[in-house]
Amino acid sequence: MADLKDRYLVTAALPYANGRLHVGHIAGAYLPADTFVRFLRLMGKEAHFICGSDENGAPITFSAMKNNCSPQEVIDKFHNIFDQSFKGLGINFSIYGRTHSDYHTKVSQDFFKTVHEQGHIQKHTTEQVYCSECKMFLPDRYIEGTCYYHDCGKTGARGDQCESCGRTVDATKLKDPVCMVCKMQGRPGTGCIEVKETAHWYLRLDTFQEDLRKYIDTHPEWRESVKRFSYGLLDQGLNERAITRDLSWGIPVPLEDGQDKVLYVWFDAPIGYISFTRQYFESIGKADEWKEFWCNEENGLLHFIGKDNTVFHAVMFPGMLLAHGGYRLAGNVVANEFLNLEGNKISTSRDYAVWVDEYLEHFSPDPLRYYLSAIAPEASDSDFSWKDFQQHNNGELADNLGNFIQRNVAFCNKYFDGIIPERKNKTEAGDKMLQEIEDARKEIGELLSEFKFKFALERMMRFSQRANQFFAEETPWQSRKTDMDACGSTIHIGLLVLEAMSIVMEPFLPFSSAKLRAMLNVAPLKGGEWNQPLTIKAGEKVGTAEVLFPKFDDDLIQPRIDDLNK
Ligand code: 2FM
Ligand code: ZN
Repeated sequence: MADLKDRYLVTAALPYANGRLHVGHIAGAYLPADTFVRFLRLMGKEAHFICGSDENGAPITFSAMKNNCSPQEVIDKFHNIFDQSFKGLGINFSIYGRTHSDYHTKVSQDFFKTVHEQGHIQKHTTEQVYCSECKMFLPDRYIEGTCYYHDCGKTGARGDQCESCGRTVDATKLKDPVCMVCKMQGRPGTGCIEVKETAHWYLRLDTFQEDLRKYIDTHPEWRESVKRFSYGLLDQGLNERAITRDLSWGIPVPLEDGQDKVLYVWFDAPIGYISFTRQYFESIGKADEWKEFWCNEENGLLHFIGKDNTVFHAVMFPGMLLAHGGYRLAGNVVANEFLNLEGNKISTSRDYAVWVDEYLEHFSPDPLRYYLSAIAPEASDSDFSWKDFQQHNNGELADNLGNFIQRNVAFCNKYFDGIIPERKNKTEAGDKMLQEIEDARKEIGELLSEFKFKFALERMMRFSQRANQFFAEETPWQSRKTDMDACGSTIHIGLLVLEAMSIVMEPFLPFSSAKLRAMLNVAPLKGGEWNQPLTIKAGEKVGTAEVLFPKFDDDLIQPRIDDLNK
């Protein structure tokens, strides 16, 4: 098993508080992070799980403009929806913070000031696109115009890139520029664009080029995609990077000449991991404890993210931490590829997504957790399909796992009055099944400790299949008529399997695990059980059998498909 540390801090990317959560977000960062944290706790490790809403900067400003409301209204609305959605899926953070808060503002400003004092931030004046109607400088993405490359000249080029020729463009040079912020608000957007000078502060990432390369070099165990991407950036050479913006919504630049400027949202957001950690430990009366994770390499620090965030977590944030000094860098950046939906890209703007809050109106959380782990986009993009979701639920959860659970508990109730029978007959098949329990715990644990969630789940289902096979081969429904000892021995082992199953399934299916333990009448999991002896004992009583995984009929699934095609 990959060596685990005793103590961990796990972070999951802070979602922008300007749109609902969809299955792509969950598969990308939150579910694997939650699964890992749950696993760590079952291994008896200390694990703190940090997340919160990303509430500053351009994404929020423009959502507010689009929806004709204030940025504060936007973030309040989505912060609450996120909180509910995460809870509904059993993604339980130690703290779910907010970056639009006094606490985070102070931590971020102090961070900026220290880096500035160390001489790693420089001020430059450059020309930027300004809209005289909006009275603001426009982020590149909000300018459209005609591409100025002679061999292209197409309209609809964005201020950061021309969609037609794919080249990076300089927004100040686009021909016939149009302000998309004006357009969003019903104004023409033409004739209002100027090019004006403005000053910004830049982080000298280039200074840390070699240190960052060494950092990646020391982590051959990281996922290939993260290493490849990071080396790609390092090979191109790191440049200084603007870390301030001309906006009114965000964290004010803490310098005298920084009026009307805010920190770039990608500068303050990762600092959120630190500020939320501090806030969390303060709230439990251990104000200094955050340093154990942010300044001490002996403990684990892991970031779970979607792949579009790789540059910020594997290069920029580590660069910020090095520039500040006194911080350790994360032990791993676990990035996932993208999740598509019915063969197409998920699109928030086109409302083409499976939204978590909507999902939860129709289904319980575990089938989604199961499915998203089964198709986890770990090494390549994967596809969510409602039919496939239905098949995974009906075929694997209901027919394989649920069936085994149901059969054993019901059998014990029906033929043994609910009293766990003794294992009087020691057969080779029984011994093998007991060995399989230990093998499964060990192998699932190994896979989880290497962040191989999909394989770990497959291994768990193989365990369930073998247990079903054992039950089928032992034919307790026959032996109960001829040899109650043989029958009781089979059920005894079956119930031990179920107890082990309730442990190994908890990281994936926490709600069902808790129900299963109640069915078995064993204590709720409290941590450390993964490798401990099982507690099921002959003579004790089990609870009643319950269907843990109902099947989903077409009439439950079809409306979901129709919804997408609307
Ligand atoms: O991509 C996003 O949704 C960003 N809000 C992620 C931020 S992660 C972090 F650094 F805080
Ligand atoms: Zn072009």
